[in-house]
Amino acid sequence: MDLSDAPAPLEQFAQERANAFAAGDAMAAVCTAASLGDRARLDIRTLVLRDLAPGLGLFANRTSVTADKWAFWLRAVFAVQTYWPSQHVQYRMQCRAEELGQELVARSWLQRPDAPKRMDWLYERYPQSSVIASREALVRALDEVADDQTAIAPQSARGLRLTPIEIERLFLGTDNGVHERTRYTLQEGKWQTETLIP
Ligand SMILES: Cc1cc2nc3c(=O)[nH]c(=O)nc-3n(C[C@H](O)[C@H](O)[C@H](O)COP(=O)(O)O)c2cc1C
Repeated sequence: MDLSDAPAPLEQFAQERANAFAAGDAMAAVCTAASLGDRARLDIRTLVLRDLAPGLGLFANRTSVTADKWAFWLRAVFAVQTYWPSQHVQYRMQCRAEELGQELVARSWLQRPDAPKRMDWLYERYPQSSVIASREALVRALDEVADDQTAIAPQSARGLRLTPIEIERLFLGTDNGVHERTRYTLQEGKWQTETLIP
């Protein structure tokens, strides 16, 4: 067991993610997030992962009818995973989540492309993940979102700051084919480092 805080796992994560972006890795922008919903239903989603200082960020819409995901995300520790094929590296994290201030959410929201902005406004009338009669009905409803509405974020746009408390890095790109697996656990503000059997 090693109690030194080097290498700082979040710095290594940021560096490897930057390398993945530089290599044109399509997976660099996203993560897979899993949480336990109500009645112990397991939900897994691909979400865009943002860099925040400190921590990481997720943006979503609180209208979703899927197992009241927002309430569950704020209540529980939940799991986030990334895999960047270009870097031969997987990260798995256990994270605590806290809601981001609406001002920061509103500012970030303005950087979204037009179609997701329109979708966010559509959710005000048609909650995300609810059933609609057809794709044609969806496109018609989307056309009814006024152009000037997309100038500001709807109230239902939300953001989360993730604070990882456990990070596991699995590196597959070793010369001898023996994968490198390291677990970092945050204890009293320091990262405890352990080598795991891959
Ligand atoms: C590449 C990609 C990026 C995505 N990014 C987001 C995102 O940042 N926020 C989000 O709410 N959903 C995002 N989604 C959609 C989610 O995976 C999911 O389908 C949606 O949030 C509905 O989930 P729900 O059933 O929990 O409401 C993304 C999907 C893909 C494939």
